[in-house]
Amino acid sequence: MGAPDIVRILKVKDETPTVKTFTLDKKMAAKPGQFAMLWIPGVGEKPFSFSSLKDKAEFTIREVGAFTKKMFTLKKGDLIGIRGPFGDGCFRIEGKKVCVAAGGVGIAPLRPIIDELLKGGRELTVIQGASTVDELMWIDELKKKKLDLLIATDDGTCGSRGSVCDVLHNLLDKGEIDQIYTCGPEPMMKVIADLSLEKKIPCQISLDRYMKCGNGICGQCCVDPSGKRVCKEGPVFTAEELKDSEFGRYRRDASGSRCDI
Ligand SMILES: Cc1cc2nc3c(=O)[nH]c(=O)nc-3n(C[C@H](O)[C@H](O)[C@H](O)COP(=O)(O)OP(=O)(O)OC[C@H]3O[C@@H](n4cnc5c(N)ncnc54)[C@H](O)[C@@H]3O)c2cc1C
Ligand code: FES
Repeated sequence: MGAPDIVRILKVKDETPTVKTFTLDKKMAAKPGQFAMLWIPGVGEKPFSFSSLKDKAEFTIREVGAFTKKMFTLKKGDLIGIRGPFGDGCFRIEGKKVCVAAGGVGIAPLRPIIDELLKGGRELTVIQGASTVDELMWIDELKKKKLDLLIATDDGTCGSRGSVCDVLHNLLDKGEIDQIYTCGPEPMMKVIADLSLEKKIPCQISLDRYMKCGNGICGQCCVDPSGKRVCKEGPVFTAEELKDSEFGRYRRDASGSRCDI
């Protein structure tokens, strides 16, 4: 499996009140959608997607529980362990009229694929959803790119009031989207996956599951009933691959027991 490389944190940037971007002193040849395992001694190891593939490894992280609370105490100059990149199943460049649908910190793994899609001159719509205006990310950066940006917030403080799914629904009713990429809370992704299957539009989904080895060995992240490993065959799957699976219904905690999404 390999021991983690110990690297220095070069920069910590506040993105929102609950999200920070950590730039590490490490070059990694990762593809859009791939992830690395970050290790904090005495706390553990968790998977995080690359939020930028330019130059140094970068991760954009929301403060949620034990690992991310500790991560948020780390400063420029501190050391952290890293293994990767992992995930053979990364985002694939497909389609001509493409929609990227992101909920919350789910915009992080999608940021590199946005740049790749734009290189091919595709028509691109990005839908970003957040609980409130302060939790939106990279809006100025996205506005400078050649894409249509649609925003949805739960409280209506920016863009349309409501969910990413509602905005996508309207877009699919109007347009000719031929490929969807999504990452965000699983209930949101499930609605988007079902919509894509109904409309017969291919959809690529970055799936979040509890990981231990991160490298296909322990079986912790297998998806029922196919047994596909999120860390190895994923983390990006198509809606077709996840149809009739545990996706959108349950996941497994550290002990392997089923828990709610
Ligand atoms: C391939 C992959 C890529 C990932 N990329 C990112 C990323 O780029 N940025 C990022 O912030 N996270 C990412 N994650 C999630 C990350 O690995 C952790 O699971 C998450 O940060 C929570 O870890 P924790 O130890 O802080 O919280 P935990 O102690 O694991 O969780 C604390 C509580 O919060 C709940 N919880 C756990 N995760 C979430 C969640 N995502 N949203 C809401 N509640 C949650 C748990 O059920 C638990 O009750 C990714 C996961 C995978 C599998
Ligand atoms: S985390 Fe061990 S097989 Fe995926």
